[in-house]
This record gives sequence, C-alpha cells and structure tokens, in this order.
Amino acid sequence: MNIYVDSKMSDDDRRKELYRGSIFTLSPRQGALKLCQLAKELIEEAFRPLDPLRVHEGLSAEECAQYLAVLKPKFIHHPKAKEYVAQMLAESGCDLEKTYFDVPRMRTAFPGDYLKSGIAYAFHPHRDTWYSAPFCQINWWMPIFELNSENCMAIHPHYWGKPVKNGSNLYNYHKWNLESRRNAAQHVKTDTRIQPHPEEPIELDPQVRLICDVGGAYLFSAAHLHSTVPNTSNAIRYSIDFRTVHLDDVQGRIGAANVDSACSGTTIGDYLRATDLAHLPKEAMALYLDGTENLYAQPPLTSR
Ligand SMILES: [Fe+2]
Repeated sequence: MNIYVDSKMSDDDRRKELYRGSIFTLSPRQGALKLCQLAKELIEEAFRPLDPLRVHEGLSAEECAQYLAVLKPKFIHHPKAKEYVAQMLAESGCDLEKTYFDVPRMRTAFPGDYLKSGIAYAFHPHRDTWYSAPFCQINWWMPIFELNSENCMAIHPHYWGKPVKNGSNLYNYHKWNLESRRNAAQHVKTDTRIQPHPEEPIELDPQVRLICDVGGAYLFSAAHLHSTVPNTSNAIRYSIDFRTVHLDDVQGRIGAANVDSACSGTTIGDYLRATDLAHLPKEAMALYLDGTENLYAQPPLTSR
C-alpha cells in the first residue's frame, strides 16, 4: 500500500491508485479550511458556553444527543458547505464537471463510553461498500479540531483485497433510509439498527492512523476496512467526511474489486455534480439499480 503526501498526480491517475488501495493525504487549502471553519463555528454556537471539546463534562449523553440532532443536519444542509466542498475538489485537482459528491457529514467520537450510538455512532471495522456504496467511491476525511492518535480513525490495510465474513447481505440502503436513519438521535446508549458487521475476529493491527492538520484531508477507497479509534483522549473528536465518484468510472463500472460485499441497493442517487449539484445522468445511475429502490421507495411527503 502506498501513502502519497501532496502528490502532484492527475486525478485520473490518483483514482487508479486509490482503487489499488493507496491513500492520499492533502495539506490544508482554502476550500478545506473554510469548510472546517464553518463546522467549527456551528459547533461552538451549538454548545456555547461549554468548551466544544469537553461537552461530555457538562451535559448528559441524552442532552448531548439532542444537540447533535440539530447541529449535524444544520452543517450537512448549510449552503456554504457544498460550496466549500466544490472549492476543495477544484483545489485538489478534480474535474468539477465530472466529479460528484455527497453532502459532507459531521462526525463525533466521544471519550470513553459517553455516547457511541445513534447520532454519534462509533463505527466498528467496516467497508463503505458493505453499505451499498459503489466501488468507485472515494472517501475524503478531515478533522475539524486538532487531532491526535487517540481520537482519530484507523484503516486496516491488511484487509485490502482480503475477504472478511460479514453481514452485508442483510443490508439494503433504501430500506435503511426508509426505516432507520430518521431515528438516529433516539439511539443514545445502544443501537438496535442492523448494520453490517464483521462476522469473524478482526485483527485490528497493524493499523494506519492518519493524523493531519485541521484543513488537511486524506482520501481512501470505500473498499478499505476502517474504523473509529476508541477515543481514549479527554477531548471529543469532530470530523468531516464526504464521498466522491467520477462520472467516467461510474459509467465504466471501474473501481476497487469486490471481495466480500453482498449488500443490495445503492447510494448512487446521492451524489451531486460539483458544478451545479445535478444528480448523475439517469443512464449512469441505472447501471447500479437492482430494483430494491422500488421495494423500499420513500412514501410521498404528505403521508410521512
Ligand atoms: Fe466508513
């Protein structure tokens, strides 16, 4: 596995490397810094007068979950967030006409056992491709506050290309959207929603913990096994991640190899073109649809 630091490689070549399991790290640039600053301001505003890194010392887990249930969607749907993602992609060498992203998410990892489910889900080792992501999906990950090795994210590189017995055959993205997602804030102490887990013991080591500056980012394939590092620091970790796909790869069905994903459904309808937020062309999306999108169609707005 290669780790590229501020590579000058073209985006076309970079994607090929990502599909082979390489990781790319990027130093802070303007778009990414603005995205992090926006997130930081929203966090500070949400928890004022508390120290945003020590919210767990001043609020119960239930109260905190309620704050997060407002804060996280506010960030996701903030019009500036998409604008800054597009700027970040342009500054990272992506062709905006052909690069599609899904909305940036804000994630949290709390110290100890304070809050690990629902709205602050602590991700067990998984591949995003177990969650109906296409194999050309690239994950972008960045910290909002200073990061250290005790409150970051880990990639488990030795599982690249190596199958893991897992429960992805029970996962369907459309079903998940219909039944589970809206209830995330209710799962404070435990999470009863079915998510694809490894079904065999996982060797977490060796693991790669990438620690970059605020505004820095790293990119990795959705097929990499990765997890939330148990937060043993006394500070909350806030991070941003979003995903991209490139039109040529979507159309050509190019991407990482599928070694063990058996989920149904697809997230292909979530990506928005960086220039104008248009969805992928219908013919391109059709390549990924398996009919389950009709089975679990969202009810009309009036009856929700
Ligand atoms: Fe993930």
